[in-house]
This record gives sequence, structure tokens and C-alpha cells, in this order.
Amino acid sequence: MKHIFQQGNNPDAPVLLLLHGTGGTERDLLPLAKRVAPDSSLLSVRGNVLENGMPRYFRRLAEGVFDEEDLIFRTAELNDYLQEAAAEYGFDRSNLVAIGYSNGANIAGSLLFHYQNALRGAILHHPMVPIRGVVLPDLSDTPIFIGAGNNDPICSPHETIELESTLRSAGAEVSVHWESAGHQLTRSEVEAAAEWYDRHIAGSVENSAKS
Ligand code: MLT
Repeated sequence: MKHIFQQGNNPDAPVLLLLHGTGGTERDLLPLAKRVAPDSSLLSVRGNVLENGMPRYFRRLAEGVFDEEDLIFRTAELNDYLQEAAAEYGFDRSNLVAIGYSNGANIAGSLLFHYQNALRGAILHHPMVPIRGVVLPDLSDTPIFIGAGNNDPICSPHETIELESTLRSAGAEVSVHWESAGHQLTRSEVEAAAEWYDRHIAGSVENSAKS
């Protein structure tokens, strides 16, 4: 898959998997990742599907209506690619934390819904419920941040609450941050995600290094 890999200064820090929104590219979330975890290596992957020339991670039939067959196929493709990238760049496949926005948050959510240990944690900016009717793997000890807008016309608050509850039922530790905003990714949401990362991911890396 088309991607950028940047080696970080701290080989023990989680590798951040960056997943852009519809029409974005693998460059979009690089500045945000530097804010969240400046010493982490970054793997930023471009979606393999084009919708009217706009990159995405899976097809949709209409706004908010996903092509589930393609979603499942593309989720497997990305999951396999992560294994290949770990071998190519020499990072620990089990130490990946995703940061996704919109369509990128939805494929990250789909990785969590379909594969045990696909991600060690995730920051999901404006995600939807990627698919319904699947039994989730055990997500115990998986910290997940959800950033949501209470006026988001694409990811309704009701869907955010459904996603939170589905992930919690699988054992994940979910924190939801609400913005008085729509679908856009605001600076204050990025700051909230960075603070959450320090507490829930970076803090646990330091503690395990000490113990
Ligand atoms: C999606 O298709 O994944 C969501 O509707 C968000 C978007 O990309 O617009």
C-alpha cells in the first residue's frame, strides 16, 4: 500500500498508524502525530480505494452507507499489510496505535471489530460504527479515545454512543471527548487526544519500563 514510514527517536514507543479522511493522503496526519507522540515512529498509509478520485480505505454505497463486503476485504488487506510493514521496517507488530480521522477512523474501528490484537490502542476522530452484527474480539486492556462533535452531521451523537457501548462491551477502555462542533477536526480535540495519549499510552509505556 502507498505509505510513508518515519523512524522515531524512541524504539520502545508505540508506532503510530495514521489513517486519513476521505480525499486525504498519507501526509495529512503527520503534523498531528508529531503533536501526540513526537518520539514515535510513524506509518501513514493511503487508502487503496478511489471515490471520484478521492482516496478512501473502503467503498461506500452512499454517504454513511458502507459496502460491507469491501469493508471486510479492505480491513483484511490493511491488517496483512501491517504485518508486512512490521517485517520491512523492523517494528513490533503488537505495538501499533492507530490515529484515524473520519474514513480513517472507520477502518481503524473495523480493524478493532475484526482482529484481536490488531491495535494496542486507538485514537478515533469522528468515527462511525463500521459494521453491525459481528462478534467483536476481546478488547480488554485496549485504550480507545473517541473524538466526536455534538453537531456532526456525518457521525451522529447517537452513533458515537452506540460505538462507545459496543467497544466497552468487548472490554475496551473507552474515553469519549465531545466538541461543540461538526465533523471537522478541531485543535482542541487534537489537544484532548494528546493529553489522553500521555495518560493512557505513554504513561503505561513508562510504567512498564520501570517495573
Ligand atoms: C465514511 O464514509 O467513512 C464516513 O462517511 C466518513 C467520510 O469519509 O465521509
